[in-house]
Amino acid sequence: MSDKDKALPPHRLEENLDPEDWEATRALGHRMLDDMLDYMKTVAERPAWQEVPEQVAARLREPLPRESADESQVYEQFQRDVLPYPLGNIHPRFWAWVIGTGTPMGVLSELLAATMNPNMGGGVHAPYLVEKQVLEWMREIFDFPAGSSGLLVSGGSMANLVGLTVARHVRAGFDIRKQGLHGSPKPLTVYGSTGMHSSVQKALELMGMGSDGLRLVETRPDHSIDVEALERMLLEDRAAGMQPVCIVGNAGTVNTGAVDDLDALADICQQQELWFHVDGAFGAWAAIVPERAEQMRGMSRADSLAFDLHKWLYMPIEIGCVLVRDDRQHRDTFSLTPDYLEQTLRGVAAGGNWFSEYGVQLSRNFRALKAWMSLKTYGIDKYRRLIRQNIEQAVYLGELVERHPQLQLMAPVSLNIVVFRYLADGLDETAPDELMLDELNKEILLRIQERGIAVPSGTRVNERYVIRVAHVNHRTRYSDMDLLVQSVLEIGREIMDAGPRAIS
Ligand SMILES: Cc1ncc(COP(=O)(O)O)c(C=O)c1O
Repeated sequence: MSDKDKALPPHRLEENLDPEDWEATRALGHRMLDDMLDYMKTVAERPAWQEVPEQVAARLREPLPRESADESQVYEQFQRDVLPYPLGNIHPRFWAWVIGTGTPMGVLSELLAATMNPNMGGGVHAPYLVEKQVLEWMREIFDFPAGSSGLLVSGGSMANLVGLTVARHVRAGFDIRKQGLHGSPKPLTVYGSTGMHSSVQKALELMGMGSDGLRLVETRPDHSIDVEALERMLLEDRAAGMQPVCIVGNAGTVNTGAVDDLDALADICQQQELWFHVDGAFGAWAAIVPERAEQMRGMSRADSLAFDLHKWLYMPIEIGCVLVRDDRQHRDTFSLTPDYLEQTLRGVAAGGNWFSEYGVQLSRNFRALKAWMSLKTYGIDKYRRLIRQNIEQAVYLGELVERHPQLQLMAPVSLNIVVFRYLADGLDETAPDELMLDELNKEILLRIQERGIAVPSGTRVNERYVIRVAHVNHRTRYSDMDLLVQSVLEIGREIMDAGPRAIS
């Protein structure tokens, strides 16, 4: 008997992951949606943050589930053990690091995006056109020319990595994609201020240029880059045999919100044939507020611009974006099309210029949908008003700090970041007292967080520990700023009344 005459094996029992009872899943889905909208609506009534109790943490350490469980029971555990213990960033008094708030429309769009679940690497489908449209809007907002390209990415870190990789590819002067850094006769170097975000260093480490390849330039008293010091460093580095390839300008540093003189940096890049990359993770958005446009002058001259939509556009994490002035340079840096990704003239694999040719990822999610729906629902004018509101609230907080004799503003409020500290009676600026002030302010910050009052974060400015408010929160009210200041003063007094041992 030949193989062809053999009987086929019987069909096995087949299964899939769709519900057996769609109506039960529908009812659960409606419940979830109601619960989540209520959760958002009532967020201000809960603590800004609370510790996860040990018995809850213990319940979140369980063996790998082997058997199926009832979906409503899984949801009940989520409600009991996960939902009450968030990081806090949807709360009106969360201002730590730079983390956005999210919106109801963002939530609903995530549901729609996950339902369609397209792979945004490429292909012919309407979601691809949605991302194209969002990128077109980004080009218009940031005044990038026709012919520039863009990509939605996970966030600012990835946007910086993509921009810097294009910079390295274009400015290396040899085929770095083929030869790697082995082809480099000289160390390739990138320049930016000491206020630059750590994701730039991480990118250079990943790109094989090392943290030594990142040349840090001192800042002026306002924390923006010292342009003359940069020019000196470029001269010295070239004389020492290095090959500068790129300058990174900050449109809002993470620590203090300082904005570099982007126009001056663009001039230097033009004169010295360097790539100009701008990290505008949150600050770039200030450009849409007319009163702030001057502060951002020069940003639209960047060869590449990195910014987030999950920070100051309040969209749910993750969504960032990189714009690159020259589409061809961008594509040449990343495009690889093996046989299995070959594009056709018709059918689902047509289209050309797939997003996978513009970045690191092949499979990509439909993050474009939340941007498309949010921008259409709220409109750019509403974002303009909200960003202006955040800046004005930050300025207000800065003024409250400056007016109070026991508070010290530690850097100018140049955008939406306020750094300050509590000054205790009897402690002055001598060295031992400064250390004590550092500890005191750290303790104030921790108590404010642990009591669920608010969530600022901490950092160091001019080597001193400070309380830091980075404001990208559309839910914050002026009264929340009042409450923060009042709490810092009360807790500061409480600690000092208990004596220095309270913080040692
Ligand atoms: C100036 C700056 N650049 C880059 C990043 C990194 O962005 P992401 O956290 O979205 O990766 C941040 C994050 O706060 C930032 O403030």
